[in-house]
Amino acid sequence: MQYRTMPKSPDKLSILGFGCMRFPTSPEGVIDEEQSMAMLEHAYANGVNYYDTAYPYHGGASESFLKGFLAQHDRKSIYLATKLPCWLIKEPSDMMRYLDEQLDKLGTDYIDYYLLHALNRKSWTSLRKMKVMKFMEQAQAMGKIRHIGFSFHDDYKTFKKIVDAYDWTFCQIMFNYLDTHYQAGFKGYKLAESRGISVVAMEPLRGGKLVSPIPPEIEKLWKRAPNKRSMVERALRWVWNWENVSTLLSGMSTMEQLNENLRLADICPVGSLDDSEIKLYQKVRRAYIKRVPILCSECRYCMPCPYGVAIPSNFGVYNEAMMFNDQKRHSREYAMFIPENARANKCTNCGACVPKCPQKIAIPDELKKVRDYFA
Ligand SMILES: NC(=O)c1ccc[n+]([C@@H]2O[C@H](COP(=O)([O-])OP(=O)(O)OC[C@H]3O[C@@H](n4cnc5c(N)ncnc54)[C@H](OP(=O)(O)O)[C@@H]3O)[C@@H](O)[C@H]2O)c1
Repeated sequence: MQYRTMPKSPDKLSILGFGCMRFPTSPEGVIDEEQSMAMLEHAYANGVNYYDTAYPYHGGASESFLKGFLAQHDRKSIYLATKLPCWLIKEPSDMMRYLDEQLDKLGTDYIDYYLLHALNRKSWTSLRKMKVMKFMEQAQAMGKIRHIGFSFHDDYKTFKKIVDAYDWTFCQIMFNYLDTHYQAGFKGYKLAESRGISVVAMEPLRGGKLVSPIPPEIEKLWKRAPNKRSMVERALRWVWNWENVSTLLSGMSTMEQLNENLRLADICPVGSLDDSEIKLYQKVRRAYIKRVPILCSECRYCMPCPYGVAIPSNFGVYNEAMMFNDQKRHSREYAMFIPENARANKCTNCGACVPKCPQKIAIPDELKKVRDYFA
């Protein structure tokens, strides 16, 4: 295992962090405790010391499950990260209440890395009004949390605003070779680096989508690489290539995945990719983007639809299905994330959305394609 430090923390963090959002589960969907504990122990025995959980993971069961693991070990040998569930904060007193509940669930007196979870423009504005940073500093002064950070899902402009507002120790962003121009993106990575804010990389495999299936033209491009590597290695090596990534969070669901990622964490150092390899990643990225059929920028000008269709979300899942050539996985996502009454089949072809779209997308026609694809 290799270790890295954040500019503002003395801790030596394993470059592979355990993402506790994707533990193996039983057919009923609850955490398979035996298998998950075996994986946690195996990770620990092999040098993983950073564990990232959150209030809502596994329907709220991830934090309580970690309690048993923490109890087995010297608490100081583990760096525990969890997050304030920002969307549940309705008044200032909620913040300490949730933190105390989390400490209780985890069976610990302190959290090493505490984040504001999934910040976006709206939640940041609302939390600031409730003096969230005062709360974080108060919790720090009380010894309940050690380092202050945030995780993020919005655009670069919002990211910069948040970065500029506080002297953060770290930020957790979606960081993989495909999303260099999405959300915080690579520009966000560089901004964080310039401020001494360390990056904790999440979704390094884009939730597994960069592993398989691989569209034929992408496979052809990878064949041009000077070395033979698995798709997992290509993706993780790219993330670890960048020095300001302190740890890479992987959501591993099997022991085989854990073993593979442990092996890679030994052999992928900072700066292992040369310029020509980086250029190949950029070509692969462009080839993925080219596969996107509907050029919706999710500006939401088309909304609200008079019939309740969630137009940008329908296009989003469809575009991803096309980009990754994976109907099965995305049909599951479509069923899971788009409520039944907001799906493409609710479009009546009224056309109210058409003049509102700055991209001039023939929205009703495209919604028909989405409807037929996920039928
Ligand atoms: N703060 C936030 O807002 C936020 C949001 C997202 C994630 N996170 C955190 O970041 C962590 C990482 O995100 P993520 O789980 O989306 O990461 P990820 O590593 O991009 O995706 C995890 C998926 O990748 C696949 N995988 C992992 N290792 C593999 C291997 N060696 N071979 C083949 N497939 C492999 C598995 O997919 P299959 O199961 O399909 O095989 C696994 O479920 C999460 O667990 C969570 O702790 C935080």
